[in-house]
Amino acid sequence: MKLLVTGGAGFIGSNFVRYILKKYPSYRIVNLDKLTYAGNRGNISDLNANPRHEFIRGDIADRTTVDEAMAKVDAAVNFAAETHVDRSIASATAFIKTNISGTHTLLESARKHRLSRFVHISTDEVYGSIPRGSFTEKSGLNPSSPYSSSKAGADLIARSYFITHKVPVIITRSSNNFGPFQYPEKVIPLFVINALEDKPLPLYGNGLNVRDWLYVLDNCEAIDKVLHKGKDGEIYNIGGSTHLSNVELTKKILEMLGKSSKLIKKVDDRPAHDFRYAVNCTKIANDLGWRPRAIFDEALAATITWYEINKPWWKKIINNNYREYYRKQYGRA
Ligand code: NAD
Ligand code: TYD
Repeated sequence: MKLLVTGGAGFIGSNFVRYILKKYPSYRIVNLDKLTYAGNRGNISDLNANPRHEFIRGDIADRTTVDEAMAKVDAAVNFAAETHVDRSIASATAFIKTNISGTHTLLESARKHRLSRFVHISTDEVYGSIPRGSFTEKSGLNPSSPYSSSKAGADLIARSYFITHKVPVIITRSSNNFGPFQYPEKVIPLFVINALEDKPLPLYGNGLNVRDWLYVLDNCEAIDKVLHKGKDGEIYNIGGSTHLSNVELTKKILEMLGKSSKLIKKVDDRPAHDFRYAVNCTKIANDLGWRPRAIFDEALAATITWYEINKPWWKKIINNNYREYYRKQYGRA
């Protein structure tokens, strides 16, 4: 199979590209990525000499580039997106352009090139917050941030291309991922790095908001199953079954690193901060035989070790642009 992976220089995309190339020795991947602040050739430098991996720097909202890439492949997995809620609150423009217009451009091109499958990577955040229980694939969409709203918009357009144009779209909605190569603006890498540097860990609000943590390689396995065995037009929830409040997560990180809880610094809450995300994963378990394998504490420990070992990776990111962003957006830490 020849596969187009968009956003394959980002966190989940780079893990997925590596996972697929290793698992399927005959597969070829065309990796289309704009290399925004979140994209990094360093995330896929081990693939530079791999003849089965072709990297194209380009925008998913640019039809000419997309058509060129799409003409080379049989199927596509769309990871490319603007992904950080806090950035979407500061400015939503790039989110609308990439997440909505970019997805639309890919769908039009997939239609033209008659792709055999188009997996659109979405998020549990499209369902919005749920105080208890969990959302199924049939639940309504109730997003609250510009990020989750732009993802919900993309999901609806993707579904419409299946219904109207018979583009073989499948949507995945996963919970919060963690693991190697995650950009240090998301809470786990940010807190691990700050703790390693004995800097404060800025915990939003009362720290009681709950997220369901999914190890990135478990998500890659789920997407692989969806790509090969999923049913056209379907949606699959993917969750880690590890629900933790932010304060519980923060204490675990500090404990694993042998650091004091005095590093926790309560800061102003995020506007419209979703309290709890939770997805019901019975469908993917029953239909595709997927369940998360990772034991959370082991996967978190492995992730922390990865950040300890790969200091040059995150130091470079921080020195290039992150520190400035962080100071500007929050004026804290
Ligand atoms: P990321 O921010 O680490 O990477 C996004 C990648 O997309 C980057 O490499 C970036 O350069 C690229 N990109 C951005 N705009 C582009 C454009 N216009 N054209 C081409 N490339 C572009 O994101 P991630 O955490 O790896 O998330 C990947 C996907 O998974 C996203 O669609 C996200 O909504 C979804 N998702 C993420 C999580 C999570 O916890 N990280 C959870 C659920 C769903
Ligand atoms: P984040 O990693 O930004 O993912 P998302 O908002 O998409 O779930 O945040 C995860 C949780 O951690 C969320 O409840 C907000 C919280 N958080 C903090 O408390 N402090 C921080 O500095 C960040 C980035 C997040």
